[in-house]
Amino acid sequence: MIQPSNLRNVANVKERIDLEIRVVYGRLWHYVTPHKLIGCIAVIGMAATAFIEAGLVFLLQPLMDDALVAQNLQTARWIPFAFMAIFVLRGISGFATEASLGWIGRRVISDLRIEVFGKFLTLPVGFFAAHAAGPLLSRMTYNVEMVAESVTSVVTIAVRDTLTVIAAFAVMLYQSPMLTIFVAVLFPIVALIVRLLGIAFRRYSARIQDSIGEVTQVTDEIIRGNWVVKAFGGYKYERDRLAEVDDRNRRQNLKLIRVRSFGVAVTQVVFGIGIALVIYMASRQSIEGVLSPGQFISFFSAMMLMLQPVRRITNVNATLQRGVAAADSLFMIIDEDDEDDCGSVEIDKVKGDVRFENVTFSYDKENAPVIDGVSITLEAGTTLAIVGQSGSGKSTLVSLLPRFYEIDAGEISIDGVSIRDFTLASLRNNISLVSQDVVLFNDTIRNNLAYGQLRSHSEEELMRAAEAAHVLDFVNDLPNGLETMVGDRGVLLSGGQRQRIAIGRALLKNAPVLILDEATSALDTRSERRIQDALNVLMKDRTTLVIAHRLSTVENADRIIVLDAGRIVESGTHAELLDQDGHYAALYRMQFTAE
Ligand SMILES: Nc1ncnc2c1ncn2[C@@H]1O[C@H](COP(=O)(O)OP(=O)(O)OP(=O)(O)O)[C@@H](O)[C@H]1O
Ligand SMILES: [Mg+2]
Repeated sequence: MIQPSNLRNVANVKERIDLEIRVVYGRLWHYVTPHKLIGCIAVIGMAATAFIEAGLVFLLQPLMDDALVAQNLQTARWIPFAFMAIFVLRGISGFATEASLGWIGRRVISDLRIEVFGKFLTLPVGFFAAHAAGPLLSRMTYNVEMVAESVTSVVTIAVRDTLTVIAAFAVMLYQSPMLTIFVAVLFPIVALIVRLLGIAFRRYSARIQDSIGEVTQVTDEIIRGNWVVKAFGGYKYERDRLAEVDDRNRRQNLKLIRVRSFGVAVTQVVFGIGIALVIYMASRQSIEGVLSPGQFISFFSAMMLMLQPVRRITNVNATLQRGVAAADSLFMIIDEDDEDDCGSVEIDKVKGDVRFENVTFSYDKENAPVIDGVSITLEAGTTLAIVGQSGSGKSTLVSLLPRFYEIDAGEISIDGVSIRDFTLASLRNNISLVSQDVVLFNDTIRNNLAYGQLRSHSEEELMRAAEAAHVLDFVNDLPNGLETMVGDRGVLLSGGQRQRIAIGRALLKNAPVLILDEATSALDTRSERRIQDALNVLMKDRTTLVIAHRLSTVENADRIIVLDAGRIVESGTHAELLDQDGHYAALYRMQFTAE
């Protein structure tokens, strides 16, 4: 990534862009250099292609002058073989170039993809809260392809196109120096016109990308939220919305088509005039006897050969910048800081004494703290229940223990060791978590239960966890049992079934510290009771932090704290809190009478 400090001194915009291009490509170059051998093949292939093509147009002169016009028998004999040899070589060099460039391109795509994916795995939770998923996903798919495409184009331009231009120019110069000078004056004028048209074209195409994004956005929303659309009769609203963005897209595309075809037409006219001038000059020279038909044909073909490469070379900046834009967004992810994992303490199974001392935390440092001076002492094997209004900070509080977020002040420790001193792996190995939002992967029930490191558990342990979490209750009714696919995010299951799998997963992990955040909220009272029994057995010999809105599930906790706006406002056992007749007692009475 380019450092802002490097850029501050560079006032000139063009210099700045050039510097950025150099820095980003310098960095991209590191993805290509490991593949030196294949790279050499590509370069040789490209160079060969350039010279072979120049050779082909060069040969047109003897073909025309000697074989066809002068009817020289000897030339007529060897020239077909020469052409054949050239096409064979052209085939070989073309194949070598395409295959090796393709190989490198695909390799760069894979390497970048694996690197970015790896980065996604180790970035802190806060990163994902701050970035929308859509753009992050498209970087994995679209941007990496763009980078590879741009890199291979730039290499092709630098080697093959440049050499083609040089070789074709040499042929032209050899066949007719006079005409070459004439073309050398004409070409830049044509190139300038083409370039100006190119700039206009790019301005429109950038806007068109935006409006295609709108179409995607609207479509994506109605697919994901199709049941909201149905339930609230959003058909007309959505149709109108799509019609609007689609119309914008269509009009911009039309504009683009007009600009492009106008550009092509103008370019052709300009070329036509240029070519007419060249032909006029050539026929004059022919009449004067300084240019043979063969020389003209060869010269003319060499000039045509140059056109495309010259066009690409003059546009190289656009190609470079496309690559920079795509690569920049990838490097931005790659350069993000990983989760801080500086601790070195590794404990296989902690005892489970958990302490929060004066812990303060805020998601956004400018806002009021979400957790405000919370102190809790929790002895190993005891259960702490956290209750409080929605938004009071319960989920936030428990997410600090596995270090999903870093606290601003205070200290959290397990067995007297600060959680920052543990390695992240060891810390999280000691914590089982059932989060408020159940996350299931598009896999079988079995693999969702035994996720990640849990894969190594025995069948017996798996079945026991599935049994205790009452997963088997519904799995036994499924034709494929544990091998049933749960669908994208578990959509094929009910909310309660998903929750039971999440509980089973936590049970299977069998860690000394257990966090249950509304773990049974989606279950009916009877299932909840049954799972609660299983959880009670499990909670006996481990430290548990349990969050629940239904107070009946927290009555038996060793201690209950009531959170309000990130502060502990009450603390004690169920009986003590009822005696205090404060928040908890009020909440309890409300639920009691409601039930
Ligand atoms: N990732 C986040 N970024 C910024 N603010 C957040 C984030 N997650 C939660 N908050 C805010 O922090 C506060 C506490 O949220 P938290 O999820 O801890 O509440 P909760 O007590 O668990 O509520 P509930 O009972 O509804 O689950 C809320 O005001 C919420 O808006
Ligand atoms: Mg919550």
